[in-house]
Amino acid sequence: MTENKSMHDDIERELFTKEELAGIVSRMGREISWDYRGKNLLLVSVLKGSVVFMADLMRAITVPAGIDFMVVSSYGSGVKSSGVVKIVLDLNIPLEDYDLLVVEDILDSGKTLHYLMEVLKARNPKSIRICTLFDKPDRREAEVYPDYVGARIPDAFIVGYGLDYGEKYRNLPYVGVLKPQVYE
Ligand code: IMP
Ligand code: MG
Repeated sequence: MTENKSMHDDIERELFTKEELAGIVSRMGREISWDYRGKNLLLVSVLKGSVVFMADLMRAITVPAGIDFMVVSSYGSGVKSSGVVKIVLDLNIPLEDYDLLVVEDILDSGKTLHYLMEVLKARNPKSIRICTLFDKPDRREAEVYPDYVGARIPDAFIVGYGLDYGEKYRNLPYVGVLKPQVYE
């Protein structure tokens, strides 16, 4: 019965276990905590994909930090960037006093973040950097240089730990590669 089908059945292989993800995030938290000593850190999570990463990362950071959220849409339900970026939910505070750290789930073509960085830089934050859990450098089409990268991965469509395919699989506790027949 389809009702009893598990999400796990759609996963071809596990790429990062829960434990590996925890290790990556705690390493990133230490790095960020060191770099942002004495700064006015504001973590800006790009929803929805970064929600799980953000929740873990903020607790791995030991310096004071504010949090805020943006919703940007660029993908629809497919596996390729449309190139058209839309801000669905914006920040509504002035950014001049903040050292912004944009928290992303995954950097792929870079189109989404390239656009978002232009928008945020124009608001003159004290500083702005990018923190992404995953990076697929081989797929880059726009100029974006992440300052913190959890892991570089090859060109494969991954899901779990916040990452979706058609809004599904975000609640998988690990990161896996989807079986091709799921999107073919
Ligand atoms: P970009 O504009 O091509 O860099 O796309 C970035 C966004 O696409 C990410 O924030 C994700 O939401 C989505 N994305 C890119 N690659 C994947 C993937 O392998 N799995 C799930 N979502 C992805
Ligand atoms: Mg997405």
